[in-house]
Amino acid sequence: GQTPGHVSVVIVGGTGDLAKKYLWQGFFHLYVNHVSSGNTFSFYGGGLTPADKAKPVFFEILKAVNCPKDVSQERCALLKEQFLRLSEYQQLKTIEEYQDLSKHIEQQLQQEGLSEAGRLFYLSVPAFAYADIAEKINSSCRPTSGAWLRVVLEKPFGHDFRSAQVLASQLGSSLKDEEMYRIDHYLGKQVVAKILPFRIENKKFLDPIWNKHHIERVEIVLKETLDVKGRIPFYDQYGVIRDVMQNHLTEVMTLLTMRLPVNLSSSEEVLQNKLHIFSSILPVGKNQAVIGQYQEYTTQVQQELNKTKDHISITPTFAAVLAHIDEAQFEGVPILLISGKKLDERVGYARIVFKNDIFCLQNHNSIHCKPKQIVFYFGHGSLQYPAILVSKNLFKPVSKDSEWKEVTEHKDVSILGLPISDYYVQIPTEQREAYSELISYIFAGRKDSFISTENLLASWGMWTPLLSSIASSFPRIYPGGADNGDLLNVRLIGKEISYNSEVVIINNDQMGG
Ligand code: BG6
Repeated sequence: GQTPGHVSVVIVGGTGDLAKKYLWQGFFHLYVNHVSSGNTFSFYGGGLTPADKAKPVFFEILKAVNCPKDVSQERCALLKEQFLRLSEYQQLKTIEEYQDLSKHIEQQLQQEGLSEAGRLFYLSVPAFAYADIAEKINSSCRPTSGAWLRVVLEKPFGHDFRSAQVLASQLGSSLKDEEMYRIDHYLGKQVVAKILPFRIENKKFLDPIWNKHHIERVEIVLKETLDVKGRIPFYDQYGVIRDVMQNHLTEVMTLLTMRLPVNLSSSEEVLQNKLHIFSSILPVGKNQAVIGQYQEYTTQVQQELNKTKDHISITPTFAAVLAHIDEAQFEGVPILLISGKKLDERVGYARIVFKNDIFCLQNHNSIHCKPKQIVFYFGHGSLQYPAILVSKNLFKPVSKDSEWKEVTEHKDVSILGLPISDYYVQIPTEQREAYSELISYIFAGRKDSFISTENLLASWGMWTPLLSSIASSFPRIYPGGADNGDLLNVRLIGKEISYNSEVVIINNDQMGG
């Protein structure tokens, strides 16, 4: 609960790509949803470009925002007009300009007799600029007493444990932990945000089976068809593990395996439980990973980094990694994380595959022997929309959330080896962008949907041993459009990953960090 009042939103980097594509849209939705909540708003786009040059671009971006579906055309036009009137561009480079911004906010509060609820700074700028901007905000833009300050940051948050620690301590000298909102946009995906509620709502079915006795394996997969052309200067320094595994896939893994909070609306408890499971996730080592790189990558690197033909990059664009949790409930359960660029399909999901008993090995035609799995489908792929799917031979899921409905129409699709008619399927009634969701969470102060400093360091702790041990390893080259199963031939056999016939065997004996 927070007292309504005046909220100033500042996007630093307010005319950049992310702001243009998602952020202003998200803040407009926030405005629309709160316009009659007693809060008042002003919006500032900030950046290094002088105002006279940036203003036209800024207002073009704002004019392009859309209303939520249920808003009439007439009302939409009115809301957009108001939104534009509340918005301003401000050059933000020097400390004086930050001071001016703050003065401006204070004057407005005074003139209009408003009490301040808070100030939200969204830093949509490269990470190297964070520390400096945070310092300026701290020294000259703190809100009046009693009001909140929230500073939103985008990854990358370092490139390994050490660098993340350095960055965190730099930021820590200007901002309190509770003031920092580190974004992982996967936490804004509707299906990802629904993992804990689903686990809680279906506790009575899941409690007996959510453990090593019943779970055969967990897969967390993000396959992309696009390559990284045009992003090489960034990507070549990071690679697939830092780009999506250390953050997005790891977050999903913790949501699936953490102890359920007693009170889901307590951010503190959720974050504590998440941190707790991190302490049981074993660090990943070299013999638990298969890394690959799409064939065309080297040429793209040579071109974009202006290198000669003999320059080769060993940055992985694909990885399949086997993680383990050293805790009674999940001991020995293989958790497979897979992601890659330029693969055969665009799909993202987490699935829990349950064991079928020995009886089924001999009688696999029986209905009871069809795959038993729960799939959190992030979107894209053959289904196109986000969904939670539960094999019919497991249980019929329930949902208290009216924003999720059960779909009964059976489209002619097959999801991960099962026709959709073999699943109970739940989908959100309205699809929403991750960034719009996150912006509403920031406004609500829902810290559990963001990455705390401890969470960040724990996650780097899990990945850093692998990253250092493959720092000079050559990835396996795969042709563009590869299927991770057949072309890369990465398979999970029991508790082992195999690659071609060379076989990378990963089993519990080799565990231990
Ligand atoms: C981003 C990565 O964080 O996530 C991109 O930098 C990746 O490389 C993207 O493509 C995937 O997100 P989504 O929402 O498209 O699955």
